Amino acid sequence: MPFCVGLTGGIGSGKSTAAALFAELGAAVIDTDAISHELTQPGGRAIDAIRQVFGAGYIAADGSLDRKRMRERVFSDPAAKSRLEAILHPLIRERARADVAAAKQPYVVLVVPLLLETGAYRDVTRRVLVVDCSEAKQIERATRRSRLSAAEVQAIMTTQLPRAERRARADDLIDNDSGMESLRRQAAELHAKYLTLARAA
Ligand SMILES: Nc1ncnc2c1ncn2[C@@H]1O[C@H](COP(=O)(O)OP(=O)(O)OP(=O)(O)O)[C@@H](O)[C@H]1O
Ligand SMILES: [Mg+2]
Repeated sequence: MPFCVGLTGGIGSGKSTAAALFAELGAAVIDTDAISHELTQPGGRAIDAIRQVFGAGYIAADGSLDRKRMRERVFSDPAAKSRLEAILHPLIRERARADVAAAKQPYVVLVVPLLLETGAYRDVTRRVLVVDCSEAKQIERATRRSRLSAAEVQAIMTTQLPRAERRARADDLIDNDSGMESLRRQAAELHAKYLTLARAA
């Protein structure tokens, strides 16, 4: 198994941006959100099960998951959320594990938004890297990038670990309150550290 760092952080904290920097530096980046997206594309491995469990109304005309409709459903229906997760999570984990094992780069960054909330991937990740910024910045960045309103972002934040708890559980921490230059410098420092750790592992 390659040396694997679990990268996590609250919504809009900068996980994907940080992960892209590690990829540029030469790490393998495996993103569980990207895997989830792929599984729910037309012909994706989760589509048949979603159709069976939720009905054809949740599959769009092109054969992909109707994300908007599903998002609205699971927001208001916790049981439906659990059923969706029961379909997706085992498929995501299987695929992520296979991708980690197959990586040829010196180390792997595995991006898992709810890494600490779910306790997933404890057996594959050797360290936890938390990307953190102020809640005000999270809201500003998450609303700028997606169609979510500030209230929707705040509602999602209440389902995630409080910042202090996430920070306390980090082996490594990126403070992403400043600009890209600061993020880049922190990523480069961690990259050097992870190369050393991976070599020693
Ligand atoms: N240091 C930074 N300086 C300026 N903008 C940033 C910085 N870090 C991230 N951003 C911007 O903030 C937005 C959110 O970042 P990103 O998508 O990386 O967060 P995320 O944690 O992956 O979000 P999500 O939880 O929705 O997946 C993006 O538009 C990104 O370009
Ligand atoms: Mg992201």
